[in-house]
Amino acid sequence: MADEERISTAPDGANGAQPAQRPDLFARQRADLAHLRGIGRYRTLSPKSGADFSSNDYLGLAASDELNRIASGIVASGVPVGSGGSRLLRGNCPEHIALERFAAEFFASESALFLSSGFAANSALFATLPQTGDMIVCDELIHASIHDGLRVTRAEHCVVAHNDADAFEDVARAWRRDHPDGRIWIGVESVYSMDGDSAPLADLAAIADRYDAILVIDEAHATGVLGPMGRGLSADLARRDNVISVHTCGKALGCEGALVCAPAVVTEFLVNRARGFIFSTAPSPFIAQLVHETLLFVGRSDYLRAELAANVRLAAQLLEPLGALGGGHIVPLIVGEDRQTMAIAGALQDAGLDVRGIRPPTVPPGTGRLRISITRNVDRTGIARLAELLAELLP
Ligand SMILES: Cc1ncc(COP(=O)(O)O)c(C=O)c1O
Repeated sequence: MADEERISTAPDGANGAQPAQRPDLFARQRADLAHLRGIGRYRTLSPKSGADFSSNDYLGLAASDELNRIASGIVASGVPVGSGGSRLLRGNCPEHIALERFAAEFFASESALFLSSGFAANSALFATLPQTGDMIVCDELIHASIHDGLRVTRAEHCVVAHNDADAFEDVARAWRRDHPDGRIWIGVESVYSMDGDSAPLADLAAIADRYDAILVIDEAHATGVLGPMGRGLSADLARRDNVISVHTCGKALGCEGALVCAPAVVTEFLVNRARGFIFSTAPSPFIAQLVHETLLFVGRSDYLRAELAANVRLAAQLLEPLGALGGGHIVPLIVGEDRQTMAIAGALQDAGLDVRGIRPPTVPPGTGRLRISITRNVDRTGIARLAELLAELLP
């Protein structure tokens, strides 16, 4: 490279030297990292390797020939890669509009809005929609993205015992008595990300009806996998005026982004009030088109769900006798203590099986676990090998 093409990163005229007396500017961050190491909760980024027992790529699409073919076709058709601006300015592309129209039809909602991630969608929903004088009741195991929305909401909020419909009703009944006009918002996941079990959606919808509440269902781990055509577990509640569903596109769909499916007033309100939507570059139109075509493909490809279901059945048969819970495509195996959890996960990784240990604060203290994810990326032999190794490694 010619000298004049080299890019200097040294501050002008300083040759990179720092003032002699500067204190350690990051002392508190270093101390916190040391604390995390001390309590066995330090995290590092490691490259992917080994058989996939940890991704959310349940249908095995993320690196598939099918999605590569769809993506190549989109590139060849000249769809732009970047949106160039926020949706409210120059970034609103025909691909976003077409995807949202299709998603509303596919998920049978009055409208849909595409956001850059499930995290952005959940935090925007809970930060923006509930108003002063409202009450939000969430399951205690709700995802961090919803907690982020709760941090800034102007509404009152509380969490209740996991999957306990009566606990939701108790809060709704008591609160409604003193607040005849406020709105109640109920927040749940259709399939819980770290436990793999499902919310009692029919009971919660009935509670929502009784107390004029709105039920918000995060379908992150069900979209593509469960429900007719992979429409998720909220498919049974489609077209209700008191249900909002969030379908993330980076898990079983193998893409990225999220679709909020809701009555039209809700998406209209988000477009006008959700700061993360308004003040952010629109998602790539290429990705919007990819999500659109992938949804079409996943909807008509029941064989993907059938093949996954066969793996899930085998995993249940082999892993439940070892103490695994769930019976679905997310299989938690509670170990308890953090270091022991990570040691077992490490031994499985050394043996070529990518199983990850999950520790607090992602899960409650004392419930460190192996979160075994069952996908189409593994076969019967891989699942049998996992069961064999676990039988040796578990205390
Ligand atoms: C239940 C749940 N909701 C939302 C999200 C966030 O979705 P995304 O990965 O698209 O940001 C996740 C991600 O792990 C999740 O598990």
